[in-house]
Amino acid sequence: MAAFDPWDPAFLADPYPAYADLRARGRVHYYEPTNQWLVPHHADVSALLRDRRLGRTYQHRFTHEDFGRTAPPPEHEPFHVLNDHGMLDLEPPDHTRIRRLVSKAFTPRTVERLRPYVDRLAGELVSGLVEKGGGDLLTDVAEPLPVAVIAEMLGIPASDRAPLRPWSADICGMYELNPSKETATKAVQASIEFSDYLRELIAARRKEPGDDLISGLIAAHDEDDRLTEQEMISTAVLLLNAGHEATVNATVNGWWALFRNPGQLADLRADHSLIPTAIEELMRYDTPLQLFERWVLDEIEIAGTTVPRGAEIAMLFGSANHDPDIFASPTTLDLTREDNPHISFSAGIHYCIGAPLARIELAASMKALLEQAPTLRLAAEPERKPNFVIRGLEGLQVEVA
Ligand code: HEM
Repeated sequence: MAAFDPWDPAFLADPYPAYADLRARGRVHYYEPTNQWLVPHHADVSALLRDRRLGRTYQHRFTHEDFGRTAPPPEHEPFHVLNDHGMLDLEPPDHTRIRRLVSKAFTPRTVERLRPYVDRLAGELVSGLVEKGGGDLLTDVAEPLPVAVIAEMLGIPASDRAPLRPWSADICGMYELNPSKETATKAVQASIEFSDYLRELIAARRKEPGDDLISGLIAAHDEDDRLTEQEMISTAVLLLNAGHEATVNATVNGWWALFRNPGQLADLRADHSLIPTAIEELMRYDTPLQLFERWVLDEIEIAGTTVPRGAEIAMLFGSANHDPDIFASPTTLDLTREDNPHISFSAGIHYCIGAPLARIELAASMKALLEQAPTLRLAAEPERKPNFVIRGLEGLQVEVA
């Protein structure tokens, strides 16, 4: 069994046995290579996500020096300006303000209205795959679907969409543990280009508003409060990146899990009404986002261990989702699992704003693949991406007989 080591390919291939070992050995573990406190149990992760003594940032209350950290180098500023104005990296009161304004444009009704479009697009992408007799499920279906949906929602013209995916991938490199200098350079460049592009698009929508989310963000206001231009840019980038990265991985991790569990796949093929529970179970079984971090703003105690202010906690979502205290037979894929409080969409104030949309997208591609490609099968063993936090595959080659 591979020990917890996010840089070891054996661990990345299957991190779940190492998580079981961590859970058995205790509720909190100091991990020197990242200077973080690892938390592997579901009950603790769930409680910490709701604990206001922790924050995604500390900069609303403390300086870098207060926290014994060094400020990021000035050349990384374009990335940090972009990242630090998005709600995901803010805490109240800014988080509350921005999330409320964004929620005005990103309503459950707006999302529900998209369902027929998402179903149609998923159907078209899958029929393209079927006509070719197969291909790469990642590039043919899993990726183009959520990218097109979120780009469509934001009102990004189809002709401008090609760089969105590489910009997003370059920025998301920074969310891995201890990113390299090269990763940072790429993220900074992508942040500059992406921000410049959105600044122009926002200016165009100010002149000529449309029926899209960017126009909605411009219009959204509370009494005298509005989003600043930087907040709009950061929100659009966050929605674009968060709006597809995890969905792509949930789709391919999910199908890879189905191919490894042919009995479960046969049951699903025989009964499409399992789709809703299947989606939740696949997100639990191979969790697309494995770890989220929080800063300790005020000292806390976890199971008798004092974690001091200034420390960083790494909550292991993949481990929480395999915790036998919560899930019966956690290593078994059970598409009929009803009692499934998985934590893949987080909890507390940062709970995924896009969860309803993600569920619509995952259901649409699954339904289209089950209906149009009932003989879909694996054509080659896939390769894992060498990342830990954002868990995905390099590709998923499939055949349709
Ligand atoms: C399977 C797909 C998805 C997964 C697994 C996922 C997961 C997550 C998680 C775990 C968080 C919170 C992180 C934390 O607590 O630190 C989050 C936040 C967020 N997600 Fe998602 N997400 C998915 C799809 C989407 C989609 C489709 C959108 C938008 C279109 C979206 C937009 C967001 C935003 C804006 C936040 C920040 C919320 C806040 O900070 O208040 N996500 N997501």
